[in-house]
Amino acid sequence: ASRTADHLRSPVICILGHVDTGKTKILDRIRRTNVQDGEAGGITQQIGATYFPIDAVKKEATKLAEGRQLDYNVPSLLIIDTPGHESFTNLRSRGSSLCDIAILVVDILHGLEPQTKESIGLLKARKTPFIVALNKIDRIYDWDAQPHNCPTRDSIAKQPRHAREEFMRRVRDAQLEFAEIGFNTELYWENEDPRKTVSLVPTSAISGEGIPDLLMLLLALPQKLLTDRLMFNPLLEATVLEVKVIEGLGTTIDVILTGGTIREGDTIMVVGLDGPIVSTIRALLTPHPMKEMRVKGQYLHHKEIKAAQGIKISAEGMEKAVAGTQLMVVQDPTSEVEMEYCRDEV
Ligand code: GTP
Ligand code: MG
Ligand code: NA
Repeated sequence: ASRTADHLRSPVICILGHVDTGKTKILDRIRRTNVQDGEAGGITQQIGATYFPIDAVKKEATKLAEGRQLDYNVPSLLIIDTPGHESFTNLRSRGSSLCDIAILVVDILHGLEPQTKESIGLLKARKTPFIVALNKIDRIYDWDAQPHNCPTRDSIAKQPRHAREEFMRRVRDAQLEFAEIGFNTELYWENEDPRKTVSLVPTSAISGEGIPDLLMLLLALPQKLLTDRLMFNPLLEATVLEVKVIEGLGTTIDVILTGGTIREGDTIMVVGLDGPIVSTIRALLTPHPMKEMRVKGQYLHHKEIKAAQGIKISAEGMEKAVAGTQLMVVQDPTSEVEMEYCRDEV
């Protein structure tokens, strides 16, 4: 397994779902951060990105394996947070277009809502595999949270009878709603074929129930479904997410690198309001691991970064860069042929 492991890039995982289903809170729980508390109106308004080193993820997921060594060989996970508010369809579309797999978050008390269905449409269009977090199980009447009992299946077994029955009823309701739009779903421990059937993971971002289960599935899915897709591809693929002024750095661009390698000093070309912008990477930065890129903080400097990663680039002339567009690296800026090619591409 280790030979392929060396060549697998990090999977890009997108979190999608209706507003306030708990997407950011789930990430906060994994990161041990409080990003959601700092959001204006409690609403996410930008795409976010967080890099999770594999050891941190394994540590959580191992709680489930009762000390067994988990042999998963992706180097890390890059998780993209998206807004669920109806006015941000473009950001959900952008987020979903970057990812290899997705987590669709559903509030178990609400079932499938308009932006849940919109998100499913986006995933269906690109045939992106996804798992469903049935979140907020702690809000089921009389739920007796069992944060130290994992897997969640054990926590469910320990609930008072009526809470367990309500849980099962709500799971069945969600399954019916998924079936109506053409998806077979099963609670993940009953899912025998993740290629054909979508796994449901009961979670609570508040009690932490189901979070190790979710991580374990995220680690296992890429190998089951996407090993070919995750073979490291040297071709550069980078999308500009945001254009931001940062004190001490000037105007920077936040970029998601989903393919290839990028280096300090590279000549880049991005789409600008008045035509292509050519510049040189002055600083190649990332937030610390397990920190949200969209939150201001300290940055780590890099000479070189391999996909997949969320990156902040400091370069001259980025004021008019356009979010949502591709970034190109110009290998030979003296070659008019290559410059022309890049201009056509961006
Ligand atoms: P948008 O990004 O704005 O679409 O919302 P979101 O899906 O990221 O949801 P968010 O994390 O902002 O959570 C919305 C509200 O639900 C917050 O008040 C959270 O504290 C609460 N919440 C999230 N997850 C849970 C959960 O598992 N249980 C309970 N009881 N509350 C939760
Ligand atoms: Mg959010
Ligand atoms: Na919210």
